[in-house]
Amino acid sequence: MLITTTVLHPLEVLLQILINNYLLESYCVTVITETKLIFRPPSNVTFMYIHAEINITNLILDASEHGCSDFIVQTSEPENFMAAFETVNHLGDIRRSNKKLIFLPLHDETFNASVLMNILTLKMTGFIANILLVVPSEKCPEYCNYYDLVTHNFVGPDAEVDDPLYLDRWDFGLEQFDKGVNLFPHDMSNMNGKTVKVAAFTYKPYVLLDLDPSDNVLGRDGMELRIIDEFCRWVNCTVEIVRDDENQWGEIYDNLTGVGILGNVIEDRADMGITALYSWYEEYRVMDFSASIIRTAITCIAPAARVLSSWDLPFLPFAWLTWVCLIITFFYASFALFVAQRSTDKIFLSTFGMMLTQTRDDLGNSWRIRSITGWMLVTGLIIDNAYGGGLASSFTVPKYEASIDTVQDIVDRKMEWGATHDAWIFSIILSEEPLIKKLLSQFRTYPAEELKRRSFTRSTAFSVEHLPAGTFAIGEYITKEATEDLELMLENFYYEQCVVMLRKSSPYTAKLSELVGRLHQSGLMLAWETQVALKYLDFKVQLEVKLSRSRRDVDEVNPLSLKQVVVLFRASQSWVKTNYVPTFNHKLNINSVIINNNFPMNFQIFVTKSAIYLL
Ligand SMILES: *[C@@H]1O[C@H](CO)[C@@H](O)[C@H](O)[C@H]1NC(C)=O
Ligand SMILES: *[C@@H]1O[C@H](CO)[C@@H](O)[C@H](O)[C@H]1NC(C)=O
Ligand SMILES: *[C@@H]1O[C@H](CO)[C@@H](O)[C@H](O)[C@H]1NC(C)=O
Ligand SMILES: *[C@@H]1O[C@H](CO)[C@@H](O)[C@H](O)[C@H]1NC(C)=O
Repeated sequence: MLITTTVLHPLEVLLQILINNYLLESYCVTVITETKLIFRPPSNVTFMYIHAEINITNLILDASEHGCSDFIVQTSEPENFMAAFETVNHLGDIRRSNKKLIFLPLHDETFNASVLMNILTLKMTGFIANILLVVPSEKCPEYCNYYDLVTHNFVGPDAEVDDPLYLDRWDFGLEQFDKGVNLFPHDMSNMNGKTVKVAAFTYKPYVLLDLDPSDNVLGRDGMELRIIDEFCRWVNCTVEIVRDDENQWGEIYDNLTGVGILGNVIEDRADMGITALYSWYEEYRVMDFSASIIRTAITCIAPAARVLSSWDLPFLPFAWLTWVCLIITFFYASFALFVAQRSTDKIFLSTFGMMLTQTRDDLGNSWRIRSITGWMLVTGLIIDNAYGGGLASSFTVPKYEASIDTVQDIVDRKMEWGATHDAWIFSIILSEEPLIKKLLSQFRTYPAEELKRRSFTRSTAFSVEHLPAGTFAIGEYITKEATEDLELMLENFYYEQCVVMLRKSSPYTAKLSELVGRLHQSGLMLAWETQVALKYLDFKVQLEVKLSRSRRDVDEVNPLSLKQVVVLFRASQSWVKTNYVPTFNHKLNINSVIINNNFPMNFQIFVTKSAIYLL
């Protein structure tokens, strides 16, 4: 509390000015001090006070978690504070890109200013944009009323980012600043060419590295790399790619080290990590996420359903109940014939013949036999025609084994699904759902060569991503030849939001999220996806996967074998004569039918549920 009679120390006057000018926007400010520090807190900002002790980590953590993440520090060992601040940054859940730190010297005249200046040389200081040191001016004599206001360069060439930047000087006697400049100049709008290290590896279409310079000036491209390049064009920074290709996405260990992209970011070898990083829970606890960039859907391409073997084709025209009725009819008719002719002579053979619309060799001389055989011939005619029609459709419309459409299907078949890295299951690994748990137990990781081999064996499904503009992210190990026998599943395993991952409370996070918002607003993300896909992805593989559901019928347009020719001829004849209305056996999941018909002209007819196309 300001007591009017108290004579304020120059430092306290300066602090009051700093608070009034720069901390009014703060939600809450933590003051860490060893001595008494008098100032008048603004009415709309909360202040929390911590007495600097030997270990203040827990106190700072507590303050930070309550939202007091701007700090005013006045201790004899500010390096201890920085160490604690860094620990809290990793432990805490509160993240902010624009935390403000203000360091004050002790009131004590013997205080050595180099203690404060040393803070700028610490590695962790490099990750904070807004840091302000109030340092007793070295140039002034014994009794000093000048304070230098110092921060670090932060932006610009790498060699100079840690160098002190003298912003201004405050004169207690005159109670004014020399220049009156903004004391927190790093608003991230111009990085002056500062290097931003980005962890990535080649994963199409998100990130493509090592491109031919004639193709792309930077030698890199991809949906997510374009975001980074656009970001750096916006804030004037330079991109440097950090790579750990072998470990791909990598992982973070409990001791906060790691490998791959995640490891590079958590150990600060990179400022940002990209390449299809999803909003994983475990990673969120130790890193910052940007706003979500791409909504992706994860599903599998599974071995395609094959045409059923044809030995049972003759039985398909009738349902089993009809067959049973037929057999009963056969015996009943035989019995009737037996009663009529009063002998068992050729009753079964004659009945069988008549059911196939064959005449009886014996004309029969009694009216009883004639009427029985007459009715039986009519019945035979009907059965024979019904069977003929059914058989014709069995031959022309191929029957398939059940396809793998849903998660339930893949679990029921106990089919393995695989990829090169565990990252595919990070998102669902915590699920308690029994179905998902079973699905997880069937996931395997293999090296790319092994996956390539397996893609021809019909034993494995392969995870793919379905992106918003309609392209697929498919591993390079899936070749065009393999896709011919693979089919896209209908159901998605799960949806995910891709993000950029950064160090916790990274100064870049807020700015990057702002850019992402602008990109979504303009629709650029969808355009980029299409452009990258057209330029770099194997179009045939894309098309093969995209159309895998309607493709199976095209494959069946083969030269007909002799037995089919006979039946097909009859089918097309009746199709042309009668105004053929296609009906479909929905149990077999046939959505479209293509009949390669040489009759009456050479064209293909696509029949779908709603329309008929002639090509
Ligand atoms: C301070 O306390 C924290 C948490 O209790 C601990 O992790 C850290 O090692 C301690 N630091 C020192 C210097 O004792
Ligand atoms: C301040 O400390 C540095 C070393 O940390 C030393 O070189 C310098 O002489 C000290 N200055 C004063 C005024 O004591
Ligand atoms: C961007 O940074 C470069 C240094 O790399 C600097 O020369 C240039 O002036 C900056 N551009 C703007 C618009 O400030
Ligand atoms: C962190 O943990 C990993 C795996 O548990 C281990 O390989 C690594 O050596 C550890 N690193 C440190 C610095 O302790």
